[in-house]
Amino acid sequence: MKTVITYGTFDLLHAGHINILHRAKAMGDYLIVGISTDSFNVIKHKEAYHTFENRKMILEAIRYVDKVIPEDSWEQKIHDIETYNVDILVMGDDWEGEFDYLNEYCNVIYLPRTTGISTSQIKDNLRNL
Ligand code: CTP
Repeated sequence: MKTVITYGTFDLLHAGHINILHRAKAMGDYLIVGISTDSFNVIKHKEAYHTFENRKMILEAIRYVDKVIPEDSWEQKIHDIETYNVDILVMGDDWEGEFDYLNEYCNVIYLPRTTGISTSQIKDNLRNL
């Protein structure tokens, strides 16, 4: 069985999120999603509209997602890869190069982002309605 892991905030779920989850799942048999906790978002200078619990509930309802875990530090990825015997770490190409150091532990793959949509863009658009 091939295990894939990906990380993100996944706030205000949109088509770009679904596309990356779909492609990540297609690379293996079991997809784990590490979602930023509210306190980790503070460290990342991000503020999610939905709470961690609600983002988790929404992601768990997606058919491509097998397990959701909290991400609360930059340093936990090696631990997650070892704990869950992860084969592939998938990230959007906005992170290109950032996680190459994890190639020692699993295969690291960057997928092209879906163009024309992001959570920030949705927030901006809603402000202008
Ligand atoms: N993602 C993607 N295509 C998009 C938006 C996001 O493939 N159009 C991917 C990111 O590359 C990341 C994952 O979805 O691997 C979670 O991204 P996240 O940062 O939660 O979403 P964004 O929409 O990029 O949020 P923000 O605008 O707040 O940065």
